[in-house]
Amino acid sequence: MTRTKTNNKSADEFVPEFRGQVLNWYDKHQRILPWRAAGGKVPDPYHVWLSEIMLQQTTVGAVKPYFLKFIEMWPSVEDLAAAETEDVMKAWAGLGYYARARNLHKCAKVVAYELSGVFPRDESALKALPGVGDYTSAAIRTIAFNKPATVMDGNIERIMARYFAVTDPLPKSKPQLKMLAAQFFDGFEARPGDFAQALMDIGATICIGKTPRCVLCPLAEGCQGKAKGIAETLPRKDKKKAVPKKIGHVYWIENEEGQILLHRRPDKGLLGGMAALPTSDWVKRMKSPDISAPLFIKSSNKSNKKQPMSIHHVFTHFELELILERSTLTNAPLPDGHYWSNIPKPEETGFPTVFQKAFVAFIKD
Ligand code: ADE
Repeated sequence: MTRTKTNNKSADEFVPEFRGQVLNWYDKHQRILPWRAAGGKVPDPYHVWLSEIMLQQTTVGAVKPYFLKFIEMWPSVEDLAAAETEDVMKAWAGLGYYARARNLHKCAKVVAYELSGVFPRDESALKALPGVGDYTSAAIRTIAFNKPATVMDGNIERIMARYFAVTDPLPKSKPQLKMLAAQFFDGFEARPGDFAQALMDIGATICIGKTPRCVLCPLAEGCQGKAKGIAETLPRKDKKKAVPKKIGHVYWIENEEGQILLHRRPDKGLLGGMAALPTSDWVKRMKSPDISAPLFIKSSNKSNKKQPMSIHHVFTHFELELILERSTLTNAPLPDGHYWSNIPKPEETGFPTVFQKAFVAFIKD
């Protein structure tokens, strides 16, 4: 066992104490979440896997309605495997990080058609599934199968950084934080799934980002961050680089039948496989950016235009402004992936958020 000491206790003392404090708290205060099995029941691995993929980089609040919609549309992994990819992408629209949806569908097919519908328990077999990495394999193993594995998410990193007063900044401190967490997870056969979820709940409701609620915390007594008065400053983070700003045009093009031109984006790349409105290239935002319309779309005459309407969207790696333009087609052939569609109802577009914003702005204009 690691020779970490806290409050002059050895790991042999504080590890069981910590586990007990966490689980006692969980038994009273756990969140009721739709993918969790009620009181001691075994959770459905399909529900655990689906929720864990959805919860990557996404909050519990945002995930809940999507999770419920998915299990209603596709009650089993076999149902999801048999779905059309387009329908899966449409149901995912708005949740972001769309590669997750494509991998989710691929993974459902592997489990349904190659593994007889049974999720593997073993970490390396789990990691071989599309879209399942270190975090998700550990989460599925502990939560669905109650097997010990070190589950590290942002919540658990924050708890470790504070409990052990780790002042090295993220991301450099990640391996250290994982090692500190591993001493609690390793060899804990009794309730590893509850333990992992309890830490997630404490991280999400008590040991929260800027203003930890230490008075409510079951771990306050042994928390070195609290003892040193630095809990709210932890975990420290390396300064973020400024995100680049890009700009482009997004087009509303109608034909004589009152249909609009849409674009299914290529599978690879940002918003891959998602239905979208056509756009120009997105260029660096500067004083007079050179945004040219694609060959198949007529450029509008900007000089006689009032202040153009635009929408803004923040992606992980850049910020985007899209200027709305109503336009028409040239004689150039339509490139692959473009198609005419009846104008959808706003709640049924299946667009990712950036295009949903543009669509709503067009119809309000
Ligand atoms: N975040 C990621 N997985 C979670 C889970 N199973 N419960 C609560 N929050 C989570």
